[in-house]
Amino acid sequence: MIDAYDVLIAGSGAAGLTAALNLAASKRVAVIAKGRLSEGATGWAQGGIAAVLEDGDSFEAHVHDTMIAGAGLNDLGIVEHVVGEAPRAIERLAELGVPFNAGDGSERWHLTREGGHSHRRIVHVADATGWAVQQALEKAAVEHPNITLVPDMVAIDLVTGRHAADFSTSGAVHGLYAFSRETRQVETIVARATILATGGAGRAYLYSTAPRGATGDGIAMAWRAGCRVSNMEFMQFHPTCLYNLEIKNFLITEAVRGEGGLLINPRSGKRFMPDYDERAELAPRDIVARAIDSEIKRDGLDFVHLDISHREPAFVKEHFPNIHEKLLGLGIDITREPIPVVPAQHYTCGGVVVDRHGCTDAPGLYAAGEVTQSGLHGANRLASNSLLECLVFGEAAAKHIDAHWGSLPEPPAIRPWDESRVTDLDEEVVIQQSWGEIRRFMWNFVGIVRTTKRLERARNRVDLLRREVAGYYRDFRVTPDLIELRNLVEVADLIIRSALSRHESRGLHYTLDYPEIAAEAVDTVLVP
Ligand code: FAD
Ligand code: SIN
Repeated sequence: MIDAYDVLIAGSGAAGLTAALNLAASKRVAVIAKGRLSEGATGWAQGGIAAVLEDGDSFEAHVHDTMIAGAGLNDLGIVEHVVGEAPRAIERLAELGVPFNAGDGSERWHLTREGGHSHRRIVHVADATGWAVQQALEKAAVEHPNITLVPDMVAIDLVTGRHAADFSTSGAVHGLYAFSRETRQVETIVARATILATGGAGRAYLYSTAPRGATGDGIAMAWRAGCRVSNMEFMQFHPTCLYNLEIKNFLITEAVRGEGGLLINPRSGKRFMPDYDERAELAPRDIVARAIDSEIKRDGLDFVHLDISHREPAFVKEHFPNIHEKLLGLGIDITREPIPVVPAQHYTCGGVVVDRHGCTDAPGLYAAGEVTQSGLHGANRLASNSLLECLVFGEAAAKHIDAHWGSLPEPPAIRPWDESRVTDLDEEVVIQQSWGEIRRFMWNFVGIVRTTKRLERARNRVDLLRREVAGYYRDFRVTPDLIELRNLVEVADLIIRSALSRHESRGLHYTLDYPEIAAEAVDTVLVP
């Protein structure tokens, strides 16, 4: 079946829905999501959104903090642009009904603090900001007659000139092939402009705070369609994920440290962050994550402690109601005792190369949000700059599409998906096995601290898996699991190749073989 829209957006998180809402006045827009609409990382965001809103704070300070966290690899022009747009982006969310916590006295909103920020700068909705943002954007999208929301539709690949009925060789993008979980058929959705807003690739790692669907689909699809991918070695590890044998991906927001939470070595009972950095618990994430990793490895620990129990119980419950309740259910009262935490993969700093309008290398293809490498984050993302990036680039892509509508390529006749030479996958177990293998070797060999030898081991394994998965994809009918596995192998390969090519330690990429930072900051850019 072939569907046609003016604009097709893959992804219903902050980036995708922001783009849709900014286009819907003049365009017919479809937004697809591979599961439920609210299942992306946006709904899981805890801490909040960074913007200069406090007296005494300045755009220069926010830019400076972003560049320091990013270890100088950021694109200064993009950082200035995004930081400058932040207050307006927050205002628009407030207009859509996001109930940001009110400030006391003269301040309109309560601003919390997170690592790497020199000021209180984070607007939030208690400790569940992302859920409030997701709900407000979804409500506005549902109510708009020009937006069609399509959950349970798993994009497989971008439709390009190669898929045209006349086999044109144009590199332009004309939509997507996607697997409908409802009909179990592959559908062709064509559009004059396509926006990838598919989020990150955190599930390439065994331990990740990211949702199940963060398998790097957009990055892999854009790469296969001929777009450059950049800085994939910079995988961010959040320092404080709950350590629990049952629940492996529950984040303890950085705002806990922002409001005074201390990191303690459970064996010595000693606070350790001041030994590693003068900013102690509020150093940028890469530094805190490496410090925890080092304590754990040196003392053979399973976890370290994060302790906020010295603050008033009423304060803790008011600021962190969801974390308090969740952990109480697991037998930990955070107003009285410390929380066991470990680092876990959290954010994908690299991705599809875009300019400030969200344009990719392929005509007709845009990208926004965590799927991109926009130049904002550099070698390490500053906390709470990510939702901001989604809002700014979602809107920028929409504006560019509107302004350049006449020059966007009209979709040609497209060949439907061909299933004539495939059969049903006979052994699901091979998919599960391969998925588990990737996540384990990525965690062990391409983690917080790297060496060339470990990266080469990972590369050998990924080469083998690539051949196997290419075989499954050629011979069997696609399923959502196979689609994700194919993308995971692709992004794992991109991460390993990028990491091997960086001969220095910068930001999130730390290797024992090249412990120094190079004099010049240069992006890793992979060209298909
Ligand atoms: P997402 O919100 O992840 O949405 C991705 C969308 O793409 C989903 O709808 C998904 O279904 C869809 N999709 C993916 N693949 C396909 C496919 N093949 N076919 C169709 N659809 C597809 N950032 C902050 O700034 N502040 C915070 O406080 C914060 N807290 C966080 C807490 C947690 C636990 C996590 C995991 C992240 C946090 N982040 C935070 C990061 C931030 O939430 C994400 O970077 C951001 O929400 C990404 O938004 P997005 O729109 O790019 O993608
Ligand atoms: C957090 O709340 O610690 C996450 C913030 C972020 O990832 O930006």
